[in-house]
Amino acid sequence: MGTSEEILGQVEALIKRAGAECLQDICAMLQRERPHYNWVGIYFLEGSELVLGPFVGAPSPHTRIPIGRGICGAAVRERQTVVVPDVNADPRYLACSLETKSEIVVLIEFDGRILGEIDIDSHSPNAFGPDDRTLLEEVARLLAPRLAEKAKIEKGK
Ligand code: SME
Repeated sequence: MGTSEEILGQVEALIKRAGAECLQDICAMLQRERPHYNWVGIYFLEGSELVLGPFVGAPSPHTRIPIGRGICGAAVRERQTVVVPDVNADPRYLACSLETKSEIVVLIEFDGRILGEIDIDSHSPNAFGPDDRTLLEEVARLLAPRLAEKAKIEKGK
């Protein structure tokens, strides 16, 4: 298991090497480095919906989530990281896998705009502590320019 600094170094290297296609590799690397991250995915904010992009883990039925729904939608509405230590005790939770016990959602923002989010589920209860939050917020900061680039390209299509 690498330190947070090593993981951030890997994120930077993947961004440099794989450009806009790096997101899938970054999800896989995070899961490899942090075995309690059982499902790692990136949602893109498109209008009033979150649309599932690259992910690792079991396929999720929630490929499009309106801003008002789920833990994912709550993070956008509240404009902040949401950590849920026990998903079964949170009425907002949209189930992806019966094995999931806890979840963290971190926003990806660029120039004051929410472009997407990193969503991570764990099979362990209360799996996400302050270190995970700090690490993932830093990963999101590194990813933000990539998502901004992607959004710009898609707007121009
Ligand atoms: N649990 C999320 C839905 C996405 S799946 O976990 C992949 C939510 O409550 O928004």
